[in-house]
Amino acid sequence: MDRKQQTTPVAIRPCNPADSADILAIINAAAQAYRGAIPADRWHDPYMPAGELASELADGVIFSGLTADDRLIGVMGVQRRHNVDLIRHAYVLPEWQGRGVGSRLLAHLCDNAGRPVLIGTWRAAEWAIRFYERSGFRRVDDDDAARLLRTYWNVPDRQIATSVVLASVPLSGEAVRSLIAEAGRASERHG
Ligand SMILES: CC(C)(COP(=O)(O)OP(=O)(O)OC[C@H]1O[C@@H](n2cnc3c(N)ncnc32)[C@H](O)[C@@H]1OP(=O)(O)O)[C@@H](O)C(=O)NCCC(=O)NCCS
Repeated sequence: MDRKQQTTPVAIRPCNPADSADILAIINAAAQAYRGAIPADRWHDPYMPAGELASELADGVIFSGLTADDRLIGVMGVQRRHNVDLIRHAYVLPEWQGRGVGSRLLAHLCDNAGRPVLIGTWRAAEWAIRFYERSGFRRVDDDDAARLLRTYWNVPDRQIATSVVLASVPLSGEAVRSLIAEAGRASERHG
């Protein structure tokens, strides 16, 4: 039977601290897709060490997961940053990829967002860019992507140079400038 004809699980639930080991296992298995694709100086194994996941959780990344037979098979995080939501760490176990798991998680997080949703990924991860575009996201211009990455993410310059940003709403250069200005005003207000 075609893989896509098999029943796709639909149970989405919030993740909790007890899921950390499973989240790490999913991320590090799925991130093998990056090996040999992203710049060699950005690849490391495991791709996400336990300490990095702990600091991401402490920094407000909230994961949701999709389960099959009560076992997590895909995870995706969301992080509120100023006036946008960032999708962070989208990973599906290799044996479950291409069966709608990522699309369901992404739709779930976007339905609950109520404001622009941004995603940053490796420029070389063409499959991931296609995945987000299939879900209606649009790439922003490279200069605007660099501005957005500096404003909303906490990543080194080397990662900015090797990343792209996709948005859930069309973002012109003008729209990016006003979003960033509004984020600046919001962070001044909250001191
Ligand atoms: C990217 C990822 C999260 C998508 O989740 P998924 O469950 O595989 O995606 P879906 O089954 O919902 O796929 C939806 C669309 O994405 C595209 N897609 C997904 N995986 C793909 C792959 N490996 N190769 C090519 N296209 C792919 C397809 O166009 C698919 O559309 P179709 O069903 O019309 O063919 C998952 O494949 C993954 O973990 N990949 C490795 C890690 C990664 O790149 N993470 C992204 C971090 S930003």
